[in-house]
Amino acid sequence: MKRLYDGLVLASSNPGKIREVSEMLAGLSLTVAPQSQFQVSDADETGLTFVENAILKARHAALRTGLPAIADDSGLVVDALQGAPGIYSARYAGVGATDEANLQKVLSEIRDIPAEQRTARFVCVLVCMLHPLDPTPIVCEGTWEGTLVTTHVGQYGFGYDPIFWVPTHHCTSAELLPAVKNALSHRGQALRSLLAALRTRGFAG
Ligand code: IMP
Repeated sequence: MKRLYDGLVLASSNPGKIREVSEMLAGLSLTVAPQSQFQVSDADETGLTFVENAILKARHAALRTGLPAIADDSGLVVDALQGAPGIYSARYAGVGATDEANLQKVLSEIRDIPAEQRTARFVCVLVCMLHPLDPTPIVCEGTWEGTLVTTHVGQYGFGYDPIFWVPTHHCTSAELLPAVKNALSHRGQALRSLLAALRTRGFAG
């Protein structure tokens, strides 16, 4: 099938996400470059849902680079916290907060919640826009169910991984090797859906 583009820009400045997305797309004969390579600043995440923010980020990167753009908006949704930190996961303890500060804020809020009520999930919405005015962006979502533990366990991953317990594997997501996490995770699921959608549109080799 005819290849439409050879390159994509990845609308993220998060090193953990760039690493995971790049690893998963590495097998494609398609160049994926983070927006930092084009000196693109972060978009204002003014949406109230993951999908709104993913579209805002993809449109911003496509506008600034003239390239098709992939953006992801993701986060941790905790049932006992009415869905928080949700779309605010990266800035839960304040704009510019570290992963550790955000994680500590969640820990302080779940400390008194019984273990069986600490259900949570990672959510990832991935959007691909061919150009800033693309009226039919590809939108893919992945969710990964788990519970929260109250101390850090594990050394891999980023963000809330050290407190996200994966019941199917009896460990936290920070204990999973990157390839195993990619096979299970919200981002892995959304990326596989995105790749399938790109292929049917003759986009990815
Ligand atoms: P975003 O850059 O606005 O999409 O924020 C995503 C935030 O959600 C990250 O900074 C992390 O705090 C959290 N997050 C998303 N995916 C993961 C993951 O796979 N592991 C751990 N934390 C994650």
